[in-house]
Amino acid sequence: MSDETASVRILKVDLSKIRDNALLIGFFKDKLGLSDEIRKFDNELGNVIGSFIRNNDFKAEKGEAKNIFVNKNIKNIVLVGLGEEEKYNFDALSTVVADVSKKLRDNGSESFSVFLSSFNNGKLKDEEMIEKIVLSSLIGMYRFTEYKTKDKDKIKKIKHVTIVTNSNKSYDKELRYAVIVSDAVNKTRDLVNTPPNVATPDYVANYAKEVARKLNLKCTVFDERQIEKLKMGCFTGVAQGSANKPRLVIMEYHGAGKQKPIAIVGKGVTFDSGGLNVKPYPFILNMKDDKAGAVAAIHIIEACAKLKLQLNLIVVAPFCENMIDAASYRPDDVLKAYNGMTVEIKNTDAEGRLILADALSYAAEKKPEVIIDIATLTGASLIVLGYVGTPFVCTDDKLRKKLNDASAKSLEKLWELPLWQEYEESLKSDVADVKHIGDEGEAGVITAAMFLKNFVDDVPWAHIDIGTTVWSKVDKGVLTKGATGATVRLMMELLREWR
Ligand code: BES
Ligand code: ZN
Ligand code: ZN
Repeated sequence: MSDETASVRILKVDLSKIRDNALLIGFFKDKLGLSDEIRKFDNELGNVIGSFIRNNDFKAEKGEAKNIFVNKNIKNIVLVGLGEEEKYNFDALSTVVADVSKKLRDNGSESFSVFLSSFNNGKLKDEEMIEKIVLSSLIGMYRFTEYKTKDKDKIKKIKHVTIVTNSNKSYDKELRYAVIVSDAVNKTRDLVNTPPNVATPDYVANYAKEVARKLNLKCTVFDERQIEKLKMGCFTGVAQGSANKPRLVIMEYHGAGKQKPIAIVGKGVTFDSGGLNVKPYPFILNMKDDKAGAVAAIHIIEACAKLKLQLNLIVVAPFCENMIDAASYRPDDVLKAYNGMTVEIKNTDAEGRLILADALSYAAEKKPEVIIDIATLTGASLIVLGYVGTPFVCTDDKLRKKLNDASAKSLEKLWELPLWQEYEESLKSDVADVKHIGDEGEAGVITAAMFLKNFVDDVPWAHIDIGTTVWSKVDKGVLTKGATGATVRLMMELLREWR
């Protein structure tokens, strides 16, 4: 669905041999001298680079990009500012590459080359640099154009990206990883961006089946009658107000022997109107993104299967709509969860935790090694960390460490919140076993998580609340306005090094 992605190759070749529309050369602030390799190349070009730097205002501030039109084998040299050498890291590299990729595309370039060694401050590993360059470029250039009908042929695209190295190493593994993960991020964005009249629960379930068919994964889809028969009372309660009936999608990947699977549970509300506690305008806008956790899970298992990772995975993804109807569930209803607990409803807009409750218990029954759920669960996530990072909770030391490591590596910022027992107080109900929301305006991310904790048994568990980071308002760095594909890079980093 997304714009066809650029093809990427890695070439060991002399700079003078490259033929391309543009060559990117990185410079650090206050270090504008040319390396031997670049000086030799510049001599062949008639010293255009050296003289440009002497005569123009290029400071190599982070993100600065200056074009020199040379019109030889290389048509344009792009001087790329990397900022201060000491502050440079993979985050800076990714942002700069993503921004320059966008810029070149918008200027009508169809391809470009990156001179790898000039983007290294001497501290970064080539292998990781290649992954980050490919990921940030392919993710940064993403656009959602599916529903544009006019002038589609005029949409500018980069078709080829070349990374130029001077090493004899093969980077096939890194390239393959980065292309597969970028694809998973962008396909997640495509489906999350797909409007709610199209991406109904049935549509998304069929999409999952198709993903599974292509990779020989087991995929089971339960319909509304089967979900009811399973006694998933919370899921059924939320779904019963919509003409678009719910689907429970289970996907399984076996990449290892008998070891316990890792369970990924995703919130899949294809549209969240708030239900009878209807969301007022403008808060009702964008609520197609409420399926993003489940959509990410589908593409994570797909990418793991493509990479043939040696682990077992199960995805549990409940899809439904939260709508207003004579049959809608109400505040004060008491629902019976799949694990037998009774739940008092206080606000029909807190629907995500209800469908997750049943999905988590279902996942826990499979005796997985861990359960990780991904959900656009709360607006309160915006208050906690803004658009910068994603809050999570975790019940297990080993899993917490793995998530923090994966966060650092993937550049998707996570920050843990506590599950202090005091928060349980606010979920006490006068009529049922538990209430599904806490006290208004108090620790909303945590109380939502505290509610979910009732449904995971004693399986080590983490809950990732992407309520805010699911969506971007800006076109900047790896972000494009719209769905972000949140957690895909993170989860892939986590799973590739699971053992
Ligand atoms: N899907 C929303 C959370 C959300 C809101 C995500 C805005 C992204 C942007 C969720 O179902 C919801 O409405 N949560 C309520 C819970 C409240 C009623 C306890 C919220 O966060 O306001
Ligand atoms: Zn809601
Ligand atoms: Zn919701």
